[in-house]
Amino acid sequence: MSVRPILVWPDVRLTQRCEPVHSELLDDLIADMFDTMYAAQGRGLAAPQIGVMKRLFVMDCSWKEGTPAPAPMVMINPTIMAAERILVAGDEGCLSIPGVLVPVERPKAVTVQWTAAEGDIHMADFDGFEARCIQHELDHLNGRVTFDHLSGETRDKAEAEFLETVK
Ligand code: NI
Repeated sequence: MSVRPILVWPDVRLTQRCEPVHSELLDDLIADMFDTMYAAQGRGLAAPQIGVMKRLFVMDCSWKEGTPAPAPMVMINPTIMAAERILVAGDEGCLSIPGVLVPVERPKAVTVQWTAAEGDIHMADFDGFEARCIQHELDHLNGRVTFDHLSGETRDKAEAEFLETVK
């Protein structure tokens, strides 16, 4: 297991749609994704953020707080089956855009279907921070980052400010 480098926006791999996972062996990749996420103090990490253009992500929304207990989760080929109409705004950070919080409006709750690491298919409802985290990571699988939720001058300004910090 090892910590891998996290790609930083505007790396082109963060703007590309990822390929579905078929029958690849993912154990080493998943272990590395958790190592990388925890080492970076993150709550979610999508495969393209380490340059693997496949549709999976890891998350653990509660490990920093300690309560409830840490809850590592892997979602392979995730699909949002239903989303609540109510949108809620929240500031989102991203390990690929370090130091930047972007306000993003998203459905408050979602129903998600995914394949687990063991290969079985699950479906469950999520809300609150978990719903936001899942939608954020799923965006990565479709080549979207938080900046893509902004527009016009607000977006230009946020992108330009970030580019200044990574020069
Ligand atoms: Ni992110």
